[in-house]
Amino acid sequence: MLRTRVRAGTGAILVLSLVFAILFSALGSFDLVVSSWAPRFAEPTSVALRVPFGSRIVQMGDGETSHIAYEPARMIIPPYTVLDESLASHREAFAYESMRRPPRLLRIGALFVIYAALSLMLAAYIQRLGQNRLRLLRTQIGVFALILLMMGVTKAILLFTGLPEFWSPVAAVPLWIALAFDRRSALLINIVMAFLAASLLRFDLMFLAIALVRGMTVILFLLNRRKPRSLLLTGVLAGLASALLYVALATVLEGGFDAVRDLGRLEGSYLLSCVGGGALAGLVTSVLRDPVERILGHVPRDKLLDLTDIEHPLLKKLAGEAPGTWEHSRAMANLAEGAAAAIGADALLTRVGAYFHDLGKTVQPSYFVENQGKEPSPHDDLAPEVSADAIMAHVVLGTKILREGGIPEPVVEFAYTHHGTQVVEYFWHKYQEQNEEPELTKDHFRYPGMKPQTKETAILMLVDSIEAASRTVSPPSKDGFEDMIRRVVFTKLKAGQLDHSNLSMEDLHILTDRMSTALVNMYHGRIKYPWQRQQERKPAQSFTTPHPSEVKPLSEPPPEPPPEPRPKASPEAPPEASPEPPPEASPDPPPEASPEPPPEASPEPSEEVTEASPAAPAHA
Ligand SMILES: [Fe+2]
Ligand SMILES: [Fe+2]
Repeated sequence: MLRTRVRAGTGAILVLSLVFAILFSALGSFDLVVSSWAPRFAEPTSVALRVPFGSRIVQMGDGETSHIAYEPARMIIPPYTVLDESLASHREAFAYESMRRPPRLLRIGALFVIYAALSLMLAAYIQRLGQNRLRLLRTQIGVFALILLMMGVTKAILLFTGLPEFWSPVAAVPLWIALAFDRRSALLINIVMAFLAASLLRFDLMFLAIALVRGMTVILFLLNRRKPRSLLLTGVLAGLASALLYVALATVLEGGFDAVRDLGRLEGSYLLSCVGGGALAGLVTSVLRDPVERILGHVPRDKLLDLTDIEHPLLKKLAGEAPGTWEHSRAMANLAEGAAAAIGADALLTRVGAYFHDLGKTVQPSYFVENQGKEPSPHDDLAPEVSADAIMAHVVLGTKILREGGIPEPVVEFAYTHHGTQVVEYFWHKYQEQNEEPELTKDHFRYPGMKPQTKETAILMLVDSIEAASRTVSPPSKDGFEDMIRRVVFTKLKAGQLDHSNLSMEDLHILTDRMSTALVNMYHGRIKYPWQRQQERKPAQSFTTPHPSEVKPLSEPPPEPPPEPRPKASPEAPPEASPEPPPEASPDPPPEASPEPPPEASPEPSEEVTEASPAAPAHA
């Protein structure tokens, strides 16, 4: 039984949300149950005491001249500060902490409801509208774990430092999501992150607004995904944007903002913390990108580059045991990598996927046309249903071999999605022809795989068919290739194989154009050498007796094949040697120009070719 990736269902989403709501609630309130952390006068505090921003009624002046006024205030008493009862700020912080301790069950219950609602909203949104890879249960667990980790970091900053809360690098989470998936999902995760972070400080409005804006800005400013320096710059720009917002908010809520006084506080400066928090988010995103990608179920680039090494034991096995399949995989890799890059998909992952996708063919290589050579096909002696089973087995066996070989799951995914849930048409039709009253249904000839869930795996599915069908296009013109690719794409669309791939119509247009151009360049016309043209005409000459008057003596020995192609008639071919006019550049490639025979030359159908039926009807 083939084990494919698990998409998060409604039940899983519910359980996941509740589990994380419990963990978030515990993280939000655990410090209030640690009795040794409770503040006491005349003793140093164990953790920082923070009074969230808000307007308070204060008494101004003394005696008869005193009056009551509103004063916006925010207070941070760093850890290890000896609480002085004579100071109003210490008394206020002490009063606020005493009010919170010990936490009431009702308060924890209310927090749990808020966290559960946020988690459910996030999980449900991702499941219904998020990118396909985000809908996998494994990825959703990774996303929630990442949010929990960042919440833990924010909580640690709030508890164990006296720094302003804006130093928290919460914006790193939406940035990681934008890098690994898409900006739309990152935007939603940013909203949830901002609320969760603010909840650690009694839903502080300033903290919420800064976290929200900084997260949105990093998503918008994210320009170059590859360069770490660009990520840092993105963070700094977001920090500057949040500093601007802070000044505006402070002016609205507090009636003004004294920048000089704020900057004079250095590590306590809110402006610096806004910019610093943004820069820290960019730095953390860049430095921890690889481990975070692992948490999110991605393969780090270094690992992918390792897998492109043709000395990898599994690739050596493929090249040694199924050389035809290895050449097919390499041809696909070039085509698929260019196509993926053209639509902004992960080109390197697609290349690696192409290398490994058919590894299951190493178990019985002779069942596949590209490995048969001149040997008789084993399918000659098999019933069509048995042949279909043998063909389809390479998906399951390939998945098994790759998993046992420690290949990362996103690469293994190419093995069980590159045929999707298509039918092995050739043997299905053969079976119908041989059995007037068929016992088996079409589903018995259906691949036991999964429809492509990502753009990368969908590209490989298309390229698998296109690479095989491209050899049947004659002449190899751009129009011919475009027509063939459109037919392949249409067939896959019609069969519903691209339904979960996230490929847009625009992507398909770009892919068609990019792949047809690549194929024209792969199969571009070669100039025939004079000796090749002579060889082509030899059979006709052997049946023609020339008139004695037409026979000319050879002035030179027959020419040797030239080492290099020439754009014009070769001087090595003297006119006397050939009765034909001098050869000109030919648009047709010589048969030898192709490293692989055209599918028509094959006595057996290829499972790839059978699925490229619109372009290769002879095999379908
Ligand atoms: Fe395959
Ligand atoms: Fe293949």
